[in-house]
Amino acid sequence: MPEAWIPVTDIDYSIVPGPNFETVRLMFKATPCSGSNCHFGGRNHLQVDKTADQLYSYMLKLTTLQCGKLIDTAHPAESALVKYLRGPCGGLERMPYFTCVEDGDPACVPEYYIQFIEQWITNGAPR
Ligand code: HEM
Repeated sequence: MPEAWIPVTDIDYSIVPGPNFETVRLMFKATPCSGSNCHFGGRNHLQVDKTADQLYSYMLKLTTLQCGKLIDTAHPAESALVKYLRGPCGGLERMPYFTCVEDGDPACVPEYYIQFIEQWITNGAPR
């Protein structure tokens, strides 16, 4: 797990990181975030403060405001979830917002996590 991340307890680390939904959950929970500017209970469109089952069905249905479907199993690399982890999309900056600008910044989600997430989507994004 990247050093800049917050330790998270309710995750099954025997399968993380891997091409699975648990890896997506860990990424959101472990990414430092403050105030109302992130995805936990703030004013943003994407809200991830949900139980695992709720989060799963929510994410699979979500279309982002500027970057198309959050998860696109027909075109995995076009999924907004993957695109925002690698760079800006639409008019919005790369995620995690402000703290990850270039590859290698400590707050960036490491490439091997992004590849697992893309692989999970390629596999049909199973629960
Ligand atoms: C790895 C963690 C993160 C991922 C995967 C992620 C993903 C995304 C995605 C997919 C969107 C587009 C939402 C939409 O249009 O429906 C978005 C928007 C946004 N994110 Fe993030 N984000 C992350 C971390 C953060 C953090 C830490 C912050 C705050 C510092 C942040 C702030 C924002 C803001 C302000 C927007 C625009 C408002 C919105 O549409 O929700 N994000 N993010």
